[in-house]
Amino acid sequence: MMTDPVAIITGAGGGIGRAVALTLARQGWRLVLAEQEAQALEACRRACASLGAETTAVAGDIGSERDVAALAGAAARLYGGCQGFVSCAGMAGAVREISDYPGDMFRQVLAVNTCGTFYCLKYALPLLRRQGGSFVAIASTSAIRGRANMAGYVASKHAVLGLVRSSALECVGSQVRVNAVLPGPTQTAMIEAIDRMAAEQAPGGGIKRATTAPYGTPDDVAQMVSYLLSPASSHINGASLVVDGGGTVA
Ligand SMILES: NC(=O)c1ccc[n+]([C@@H]2O[C@H](COP(=O)([O-])OP(=O)(O)OC[C@H]3O[C@@H](n4cnc5c(N)ncnc54)[C@H](O)[C@@H]3O)[C@@H](O)[C@H]2O)c1
Repeated sequence: MMTDPVAIITGAGGGIGRAVALTLARQGWRLVLAEQEAQALEACRRACASLGAETTAVAGDIGSERDVAALAGAAARLYGGCQGFVSCAGMAGAVREISDYPGDMFRQVLAVNTCGTFYCLKYALPLLRRQGGSFVAIASTSAIRGRANMAGYVASKHAVLGLVRSSALECVGSQVRVNAVLPGPTQTAMIEAIDRMAAEQAPGGGIKRATTAPYGTPDDVAQMVSYLLSPASSHINGASLVVDGGGTVA
């Protein structure tokens, strides 16, 4: 590619999104960062810019189709498209048995995690098709297994895999690929909040884990994203790549 490639990253103010942004900044990508938390967004923009990356911040709600369309419009205006899109914004929702799980919260988790990924695919794929590129959805190992007391999150992430697999098939024969990364528990604010909510339900509790491996780091996930955005992964499409230290095979 003649000029530095362009990537859009949602949830860039969070643990994994920020690690992805910094990794791509070091690799010479130009970045368009999206996030609903203004301070975290600006902190990430400044950190990427200090690494020398041309970086634009766009505040917005990924669960709003209008905001995602505006995000894609900003990248189109600035750069005429993008070569990478990382859909990372997400929320955990409640940690409650299903009989006690608030309906409003269930709808909200699906609105952000599932509808948000749908909007990102809807508006990113036309941009990626202009020069070819790679879409990466951050799903979760909760996309391929059940998890007691987290029905909203688990359902939302299973649906993300359906979106990734279907849109990957729509991209066959084009220069665009769509894949999912499935992190296991990763040391960020989200897992801390989940563990806190689980402990409130059952003192001493936390989410049940099959291995004694420590939580992964945001950088573990960022390395996989970087690979999926690179030409080294050019034959990988529609895949679900697990980054969990062995948790799902235990
Ligand atoms: N941390 C884990 O253990 C883990 C495991 C598997 C998958 N994931 C997934 O990784 C992704 C990133 O999570 P994280 O661990 O970095 O958590 P995080 O809470 O640190 O980051 C999530 C970011 O998304 C942003 N966000 C949430 N809702 C948004 C919305 N509607 N619009 C715009 N931005 C929004 C938040 O403000 C936050 O900055 C999520 O999709 C999450 O489900 C996390």
